[in-house]
Formats: sequence, C-alpha cells, structure tokens
Amino acid sequence: MEAHKQLTIGLFGFGVVGEGLYKVLQQTPSLKARVKKVCIKNIEKKRNAPVSLFTTDRDELLNDPDINVIVEVIDDAHAAFEIVSTAFRNGKQVVSSSKKMIAEHFPALLQLQKETGRSFLYESSACASIPVIRNLEEYYDNDLLHSLRAIVNGSTNFILTKMFEEGLDFKQALLLAQQAGFAESNPVLDVDGFDAVNKWAILLVHAYGIVETPENILFNGIRQIHAGDASVAKARNQQIKLVAQASKLKNGTVAAFVLPQFVQHTDHLAFVKNEYNGVVIETGFADKQFFYGKGAGSFPTASAVLSDISALRYEYKYEYKKLYHHQPNTLGNDIYLRVYVSFDNLASVPRDRFEWIEEWHAQEERKYLVGVIAFDELKNNNWWKENNTSLILTPDPIIEDIETRKLKKRSLELAGIV
Ligand code: HSE
Repeated sequence: MEAHKQLTIGLFGFGVVGEGLYKVLQQTPSLKARVKKVCIKNIEKKRNAPVSLFTTDRDELLNDPDINVIVEVIDDAHAAFEIVSTAFRNGKQVVSSSKKMIAEHFPALLQLQKETGRSFLYESSACASIPVIRNLEEYYDNDLLHSLRAIVNGSTNFILTKMFEEGLDFKQALLLAQQAGFAESNPVLDVDGFDAVNKWAILLVHAYGIVETPENILFNGIRQIHAGDASVAKARNQQIKLVAQASKLKNGTVAAFVLPQFVQHTDHLAFVKNEYNGVVIETGFADKQFFYGKGAGSFPTASAVLSDISALRYEYKYEYKKLYHHQPNTLGNDIYLRVYVSFDNLASVPRDRFEWIEEWHAQEERKYLVGVIAFDELKNNNWWKENNTSLILTPDPIIEDIETRKLKKRSLELAGIV
C-alpha cells in the first residue's frame, strides 16, 4: 500500500478555530501532519504556542516549498480569497473555513480548482462538525434529493434557545454566544442571516449544483423576532427557528430561502438547541434522514478542518458531481409562502399584496396575521423587514399550485366551511 503523504501545513489564523486546530493536531500524531508556520495579524498578542511558530508575513507560508497544505481559518473574506488564490497558484492544497469568502467567490474558486488541479476542501464552512458537504457530494449523488431543511447558524440558534427557553434577553444571549466563540467577530453576520445564507449558498452547490451568489437567495435573520411571536409559537406547541430550506419543485427548479420559521414540536429541527445545527434530508426512497451536531465552537469546527486535512492524504477532491456530471438545477421563484406577520401598525403591512389572509389577530398587544403571499413579493420588497414588522414562515410553508388552492378555498367559503 502506498504510504500516506506527509502533510506540512501553513496555517492562517490562530483564533477560535486556528488554535483549536493546533491543539487537535497535537493530539492526533498518527495523521502525519505538522504545522510549520502560523500567519497572524497581531504578533503582540500572547498565544498558547511557541513564539517561533508565528509570523505576520504571508509569503513565508505561501512561498515555502516545504509547505504543501495551506489551511486558512481567518475571518477577513477579502484577505482569505487572496491567500487561497495565491496558494492554488503556488501549487498547494487548500483547506478553508471561510464561508463568506467561499460563498462570494464560488465561480472563481471553481475555476482555480480546474486550472491548478489542486484540492480545495471546506467541510467546516457549513454546519461545522456535521459532515454534510461530503455526504451531499458522495452519498446523495443522484436526482432523488427532494428537499433539505436545516439549522446552519449556531449563534442564532443559541440566542433563540436562551431567549425563549431560558428567559434571557437578546443582548445577554448574544454576549454569551460571543464569549463562547460561536459568533462571528461581526455578530451582525449571524443575527441578520448573512452567515446562514452564505452557508446555504455553499450547500446548494453540493446538493443541487446551483451556484448562486448569496444576495440572490431570499433570507433574513432573527433580529425582528418579538417575545410576542414566541408566545404565539408556544400557544401552538411550536418553536421559532432560523431555517434554511431548499425544495425541489414540480417544475424541476429548486426553491431556496433562509427565514425564521415556526416548527412543530415533532419536527427534527425542534430538537436542535443552543449552538447545535441539524439537517433534515428528504429523498425519493430513504424518506427522511437527520444529521445533528455542533455547528460552532473551537473543537467542533476544528474537527471538520482536521477531517479535510486527513482527506488530503488521499488527495481527495470534491468532484462537484451535481454541477459537472448531472444536469445542474436552477433556483425557482414560482411559489407562494404561507407566512405569519406581526406588526405594530397595520399601515406598514400591504394587505392587498397577499393572495389571501387566513387569520387576523388585531386585538392582541402584538398584532398579527397569517396569509399567503408570492415568493417574489418578499424577494423584491423589504416592507416585511421594516417598521418593527416580523415575518415568520408557518410550518410546511410552500404552496406551488396556487390556482387549485384558490378554487378549493373559494368553494369552502361558499359552503360556509371557512
Ligand atoms: N458564527 C457561526 C455560527 C460560526 O454561529 O454558526 C460557525 O460557522
């Protein structure tokens, strides 16, 4: 048997993930992988590793012929892209955890992989410790993937859990997420859904061969969610989660979005608490499968980086099967969503843009309605994010055949049933 390759690593970043990885590598000597140099921004900061390991000069790593693997775990997407591009051109294999950088530069990164033939692995960039990318790439390598529903951001799930199950306020909960190292250095990325949609853009490539910039995907975060919304959820025996969803439609396109959603207590995603992530995959024959694990934090994220490093010993590469070997899918907007909208002032909700309104609660302290609205209406307008309005999807929110539903609703109305 061929001996495994000796891996000599140049590591960029020594924050929560970088330091975690350094420790994890020290505990896995059988991997035959050693960190030769670590590039950091601030040389003054005290680190838990020998001083001689550190440099601020990128080129010391990128131009070192001894270093055959660049591991990049920094949070500056712009610098990360420069580092990764140079590493490819210098013939190195690359492992990255920079979801923002990957999501925003997918076409260029695919091109670099083609040109250089080098491996580029980034399992830790989505759902941290859950091996979802490799599973989508290798196991779900067929056309039978009906849908994916997932919690992909640990911090927002942590905040929702702490607020609505343990009674903390938003600021306290966010502070705890930051102290634990779950949140991004700019937590707006977590709270407003940017991090989740970046991860969703990455998973759409491996699930459906869809390469789409994050801003083309409908998304929001959890900032607008009110205590009143959580009370409604509780009364209905549901929970509010930030859910990323991708569903194959009857016309062959894929509807994808990341929005807060009411989930039934029996839903697998209701089981996902704190910084954990979860992915429910529905396929033609296997029915539902549920992946669950820590989605943020030092060691859980480092464990996925470690697995990528380990896979490099066998020169593993993503084949992008859905993109290159199948007919890739495209995003489809031809759907309607059943939504709950709560608001202070009715004037800020354009009622005439709903197909129909099913529930109307104007007497409560926090007023709300439940209605059906076109996906494009949400995609093209922002009223639902403004004026202290909050929009949450109802369980099972997608409606495809709106005309049939309208006829059915009308006949029930005529019969006096609704
Ligand atoms: N801020 C991210 C999260 C870290 O909370 O999920 C892991 O990607």
